[in-house]
Order: sequence, then C-alpha cells, then structure tokens
Amino acid sequence: MLAGGSGTRLYPTSLAVSKQLIPVYDKPTIYYPLSTLMLAGIRDILVISSPADLPQFRRLLGDGSSLGLNLDYAQQDRPNGLAEAFLIGSEHIGSDSVALVLGDNIFHGPGFSALLQETARDVDGCVLFGYIVTDPQRYGVGEVNPEGRLVSIEEKPNVPKSNRAITGLYFYDNDVVDIAKNIRPSARGELEITDVNLTYLAEDRARLVDLGRGFTWLDTGTPESLLTASQYVQVLESRQHVRIACIEEIALHMGYIDADACHRLGARLAGSEYGKYVQEVASGWPG
Ligand code: G1P
Repeated sequence: MLAGGSGTRLYPTSLAVSKQLIPVYDKPTIYYPLSTLMLAGIRDILVISSPADLPQFRRLLGDGSSLGLNLDYAQQDRPNGLAEAFLIGSEHIGSDSVALVLGDNIFHGPGFSALLQETARDVDGCVLFGYIVTDPQRYGVGEVNPEGRLVSIEEKPNVPKSNRAITGLYFYDNDVVDIAKNIRPSARGELEITDVNLTYLAEDRARLVDLGRGFTWLDTGTPESLLTASQYVQVLESRQHVRIACIEEIALHMGYIDADACHRLGARLAGSEYGKYVQEVASGWPG
C-alpha cells in the first residue's frame, strides 16, 4: 500500500499531514484502501510512505495484530513514483504475487470482495481495474478494442483515447519486481506504474476488469474530490446505518478476529459514533 506523494494539490492541508491521514468523513483516508486489501483476503501488508509520515501511520495502525493483520512499514525517501514500491517492497514480496493499492483510492460496490478474492487467487501477468470517468486526463487511461481487450494505456494524456481511467489498484505476478527494476524514469522523473503496465501489455499479459456502472471509485487528491468522497460516505452511512471501510468490522467478517476482540477495539473508540458502531457490530455478531 503506497501512501506517499507530496500531495501538492491539497496544499496547505497536506503541508504538515500526509494526505492519506486526512479524514474522508469519519475515518482517515488510508482506512479505505486498507479495507480493499483486507476484503481481497490479503493480510501481509507493507505500508510505504515518506520518512516524515511513516511514524504517524505506525501510530495509527500499529503492527496490525489487533486486526489479525501483519503490517510492515517501509520508507520511500523521495516521491520517485509508484513503481518504486516494488523495489522498496521486493524483500517483502519475496516470490509471491502482489497487489498494490494507492493510499487515496476509495472503492465501494456490491460483490467487490468476491471479485477481489477471485482476482487475487490466480494472478498471471497483471490485472488492472477500469472505471469510466468524466475527467480521464487526470489518470492513467486505458483503451479497449471492440472485444473488450486492453490495447493501450497512457498516463494523464492531454487528449484521452477513452473515458476509461485505470484505477489505483493493481494485481501482479512476481515478474513485477524485475519489470520495475528495468523501467526508466518518465519525463517527470518518476518510475511510472503505467510503464510497468505497458510492459505487461506488450507481452499480452495485462487483463482489464471493468468496474461497472453501479460501482463507486473515488480518489481524494484535490479539495473537490476529497469533499465529494466525504459526501458520498456520509450519505450512505447515514441513510443505511452502515460504515464503509470499517476495518474492525471487516476483520470480524473475514474471520481475522472474533467478536470479543472486535468489541474491545470498538470500546477504545467509544467516544465516537464510529466506535459505538464497531461495538454494535460485535454485539450483534454473527447476527
Ligand atoms: C496514479 C497513476 C494513474 C492512476 C491514478 C489512480 O496517478 O499514475 O495511472 O490512474 O494514480 O488514482 P497519481 O494520482 O499518482 O497522479
């Protein structure tokens, strides 16, 4: 999980606080991508961030054991690009396949957990997730042929070939470490994830999964998108009395912790509605 970047588009808010620690409505932004990995069944997670921000992530999430996770931390000394995550994380990855999620990406939709678990089970090449947006020039953009196969990817093109953004969640086989070692920095001096994906595409080993119309994908890179994300979460949570990205609830549902442990986690946060919700969920489990 990469929680780096300089967050310049959120200045001055992100001058003293990592953008992934800024709240999206009722919880820190990083809870959302963390919950995505948890829903995929991934429990060995490396959090990569800047030397200045890493201690705060550690303070927030600890070693993950209270959630049944194994969290490790690693430094990205400078914002050298997303693909550097595979160099920083090469030891952590070992000989396994790997998922990368960006610390400011929010995914929410029906059937997502099942889709993720199925995707994570057997990764050959890479799996990318496409999502139709109104402002594709802000993202990596994928073009598909009439058969739905990915034919090109461009990073933040001025004239996008489609409205299909490539979201910040990626699954790779173990080749990704070597591929990342061999790409060159882009014109903006960064190791681009798009260049990694293009290598897989050139080998015809990149698969695109479209996240359909009923699905929500948001990022929080600008004040507007941060507010939109908070509004989305607030509307759903207040209307249905559910919590999106409640990591304690997910740990319980995934069988990573039991109801007593979940209740204790909620009790520590009981000053907030979030904490009360966690306790409620634990008391009602298995429901
Ligand atoms: C990065 C990727 C881009 C992707 C986006 C998703 O951009 O480079 O391809 O679409 O994340 O959030 P960034 O947000 O780092 O500028």
